[in-house]
Amino acid sequence: MEFVTLNNGLEMPKLGFGVWKVPDDEAEQAVKKAIEVGYRSIDTAKIYGNEEGVGRAIAASSVPREELFITTKVWNSDQGYDNTLKAFDESLERLGLDYVDLYLIHWPTPQFDDYVETYKALEKLYNDGKVKAIGVCNFHIEHLERLLKECDVVPVLNQVECHPLLQQAELKEFCAKHNIYVEAWSPLMNGGEVLNNAVVKEIAESHGKTPAQAILRWHLQYDNIVIPKSVTPSRIEENFDVFDFELTAEDMNKIAALNENKRNGADPAEMNVR
Ligand SMILES: NC(=O)c1ccc[n+]([C@@H]2O[C@H](COP(=O)([O-])OP(=O)(O)OC[C@H]3O[C@@H](n4cnc5c(N)ncnc54)[C@H](OP(=O)(O)O)[C@@H]3O)[C@@H](O)[C@H]2O)c1
Repeated sequence: MEFVTLNNGLEMPKLGFGVWKVPDDEAEQAVKKAIEVGYRSIDTAKIYGNEEGVGRAIAASSVPREELFITTKVWNSDQGYDNTLKAFDESLERLGLDYVDLYLIHWPTPQFDDYVETYKALEKLYNDGKVKAIGVCNFHIEHLERLLKECDVVPVLNQVECHPLLQQAELKEFCAKHNIYVEAWSPLMNGGEVLNNAVVKEIAESHGKTPAQAILRWHLQYDNIVIPKSVTPSRIEENFDVFDFELTAEDMNKIAALNENKRNGADPAEMNVR
């Protein structure tokens, strides 16, 4: 496993495990399998409806709590200072934990203009020691700029859609300048076309690896934190088996050329669902 050191000194596994769209009981089984395979970082959210299943898997595990890195997120309809504090306590209860490692704002929902207040609630949770780190998801540069101006704690990371067809170079440069990590969601483009891309396939074959493994390796070398999801035991293993090879500079250049700024998910500027 590779680790990153976040801007507050906290260490986080660079490869984690996502559970979006996994029903609660299946999430328990998937997270148990992931922990068994060696994953130590788990990414859930209130809206995924599986915090309890994730919590049961954590409780059943013999891995010490301090070796696990648990992320959850405040959903859009819970934004605002007081609502966020309440939503956090409820998430903690569902997870069966007494702290989470990372708490994130799920979307900025700019139309409602309350992500600064929400972030101030995250700062309180951080200052009270209930979370080890705080950050955001789906923030464009302008949203980050506002937090940097109006808040005190610099987010440790920004979790955004990122994969070879959407490489987020400008956002990554801004984040790097401010010591904010980029964490890639839908790193495999949600199992989409990038897995069938001829260039990716050729690179994967040249290393005796699968397209998913080549893409995950690209993320690690592109200095993303990455959280692939799978409920398939063999893929949970496959996606973890990415630490015994390296892409060459030429491979990295070939993948760099695949960028199309192509989103699979919503544009955060327009995502205002509550
Ligand atoms: N903050 C946000 O707004 C946000 C948004 C989206 C996602 N996320 C987080 O990011 C995580 C990952 O993103 P994601 O779930 O959208 O997509 P993803 O990890 O890019 O892809 C998951 C899909 O790819 C398939 N897959 C996984 N490994 C594979 C492999 N080795 N070969 C072929 N197919 C494979 C999975 O199928 P099976 O499961 O059937 O194996 C699943 O359909 C989420 O689970 C969630 O934790 C966050």
